This record gives sequence, C-alpha cells and structure tokens, in this order.
Amino acid sequence: MARILIGVSGGIAAYKAVELVRLATKAGHAVRVVQTPASLAFVGKATFEGVTGAPVLVDELEPDPARGAFPGDPAPDHAPISHLELVRNCDALVVAPATANTLAKLAGGHADSLLTGAALACRAPVVVAPAMNDAMWDHPATVANVATLAGRGVTVVPPETGSLASKGEWGAGRLAEPLDILATVARAIAERSGARPAPEPAWPDLEGVSVLVTAGGTREPIDAVRYVGNRSSGRMGVALAERALARGARVTLIGANLAVEPPSGARVVAVATAAELEAAARAEFPDCDVLLMAAAVADFAPAAPAAGKLKKEGRDGLAIELAPTVDVLAALAAERRPGQTLVGFAAEHGEGALDHARAKLERKRLDAVVLNDVSRPGIGFDASDNEVTVVTADGTVDVPRGPKGVVASAILDEVQSIRAQASEVNP
Ligand code: CTP
Repeated sequence: MARILIGVSGGIAAYKAVELVRLATKAGHAVRVVQTPASLAFVGKATFEGVTGAPVLVDELEPDPARGAFPGDPAPDHAPISHLELVRNCDALVVAPATANTLAKLAGGHADSLLTGAALACRAPVVVAPAMNDAMWDHPATVANVATLAGRGVTVVPPETGSLASKGEWGAGRLAEPLDILATVARAIAERSGARPAPEPAWPDLEGVSVLVTAGGTREPIDAVRYVGNRSSGRMGVALAERALARGARVTLIGANLAVEPPSGARVVAVATAAELEAAARAEFPDCDVLLMAAAVADFAPAAPAAGKLKKEGRDGLAIELAPTVDVLAALAAERRPGQTLVGFAAEHGEGALDHARAKLERKRLDAVVLNDVSRPGIGFDASDNEVTVVTADGTVDVPRGPKGVVASAILDEVQSIRAQASEVNP
C-alpha cells in the first residue's frame, strides 16, 4: 500500500476531500494531509486528523509531531523541515480540491504555503483534481495553467459537469468523484513503479461506449414462496455500472434481486430468475460493446416448481430435483460480434482458483475473467470491499483489496486495455 500525501486547498469541495481521505485510508494506504490556510474555512484539521490518525499541517514553520512520517512508519530521531520530509516520503501527492488559485500557483512554481512548497519539492507523481465555478474553469488563465501542469507530467483529473456549489448553478467545475481520483492516484503510482502500462489519457474514456452489466443473484422458485438463491448483493455489479457511467458510458444494468440501489443514470432491467436474466441479456447483448457479467446466476434450478406453497404435513423429507440452467454467458459468447468485449466473473474458493478461472476464460470464450477468492474473509459476497485478479489470455493483473468502487475502476482500466489491444489488431 502507498503513502499518499493529500493537499487540500480552499474551496467548498474541500468537504469531498474528507471522503477521498477516508476511501484512501480504507483502501489501506497511509495518508497524510496538508491544508492551505484558506481551506480551514471549509473543513477543520480535526476532521482529517480523525480520519488519518496523523497530524495535519498547514503552516511551513509549524513543527510536525510525526516528523514527516506516514501512519505505520516510525518517526525519525531528528526534526526535519516538514514540507520536504513529507514529500520525500510520499509515493504520490494529490491536490484535491485544487482551486483556480492553487492551480495558478502550482503552474507558476510558487511556494508561498506548505502545500505549494511541498508540490514544488515533490519528485513523486502529482495528481490534481480541480474544482471551481464553471466560469473560472473555462477562463483562459485556468486553461493555460492546467495545460502547463499537464505538460510537466502532472495528472489532471478534470472536474465533472453538474450542479455546482452556488445555488442553482450548473456547469463544469464539480470535483471529480473521490473514487475516480483515488483510482487515478493508484494508476499514477503503479505507472511510476512500472507495474502497469500507461492508461488511456482521454477522460471520460468510455464516452460513446455501451456497457451492459448484470448484477445481483438469481432466485429459482421451489414453490410460490421459497427459492434457491445465493448470497450475491449486487454491490460489485452496481459499482461497475456506477464507475462506467462516471467515465461516460451508456449503461444498461440487468439487476437480479439487488440489495443496493442501482445508480441513477443507468437503464435498469429488473429480473428475478436465471431464465428472466437470460431473456433480458439476450435482448440487450447485441447492442452492447462491453458485457460485464457480474451476476451470480444459478447453475441449477428446481425442475418442477410447485404452483402453490408446499406443505410439510405428511412428509418425512423433501427432495427437490434440480435441472441445469442455460449458461447465459457462454450462450452470449457464442453469438458475439467482432468488437464486443466479454468479461465473466468467477467466485472461487481456495486452492486452484486461478486454474479454474483460466479454464472458464477458455471454455466460455471470454476476454477476461475477474476472479475473487471467496474463501478470504472480508471480501466478495455482500462485503463492501473486494480484491480480485483479472485473468486474460495474456496473463493476470492483481487488483489489491479496496472498496468495490476502486476495484471497479481497476477492472474498467483492464477492459480499456483489452479494447485498445483489439482495435490495434482489428482497427
Ligand atoms: N454464468 C452465466 N450463466 C449461468 C451461470 C453462470 O452466465 N447459468 C456466468 C456468471 O455471471 C459469471 C460466470 O458465468 O460471469 C461464472 O461462471 P461459472 O462457470 O458459472 O462459475 P461458477 O458458478 O462459479 O461455476 P462453478 O461452480 O462450476 O465453478
């Protein structure tokens, strides 16, 4: 896990930085926060200190009680110059929100606060997530400052379009979603360490792409009130749908008995059984570019469900005959057209998981299988975290444990690199 230094500058979006810090900490990163004096008007130090468990610095001259160490690291014996020590120790610096003023200072190489001084001294990857009023974002000065920073290798997570802080205002300038900022930071760190190929620079990178997601778990009726089901909540599929929407995709979500709210913006088709899911998926599949088959579809269903409610009187036991369902994913894969990317999900238990996932990849003719080992505590079914391995014909990519939204972003990154490879082969 990484040491992430988060710089918070003074805008209303500073409250969203709390969520970013919380997500980064929850994902297992060691996080320190520096704030500009102006940001204190929006969020106090105590909030970030509570979430990170480490002191927050504002002033260059104030001593750092942790002496530049990140949570989990030992503090050095000597008292270093705080801003130099913090950036020396970090794996990435992320400025979120970056106000127009802070962007201008960063572009101009100013060092008039702890945050700007730290940025100037930083040799680790720097990510900025601007947030401001839309007129300020569109101003040529801001446009030039952002271009200057991007030209120097700073990663910019552009603001989103939507309702802004001032009542009734709408436009570009809203801070990107904390999950997307965190995913970008993780990518920047991975790239620096050479762990992964560079991602697509364009953002939103799924604009014009039609994504079909299945989520949840099917229920196969035994009688009018009972069913054979599974523990899937739909969280992973919903997170994928949400992240794909944020990246500009058109999303259709086939939801089977979801325990969580589907994201607004997705077209939702509600289903209950494997047969209903199959019918919906067959109808939607021809129009999609990417299929993310995250639903836990029953492999077997009661062969002859009773119309009414089965009574227990007069029975010593009850044997229910189960018949295999259609393997929806394999059926769709058999009808795929060129240009479609198909991703299956495999919940495996313990030993041999990777071999089983590879076998599924080949047997179902998929582009990738997202494998999670449900024998590990705290991940998988009905948990908010996940930890997966994306298996493709080329090899495997491990996505470390994190909130399902962060894992979803990493899966979409892999989908994008599969699509990029395919378009190189078949332009
Ligand atoms: N799947 C499907 N139709 C089914 C069963 C599964 O489309 N009837 C899809 C799931 O949505 C998932 C993938 O296939 O994307 C899982 O593959 P599967 O071989 O069914 O995995 P398991 O159910 O884990 O299989 P097994 O118990 O044989 O390991």
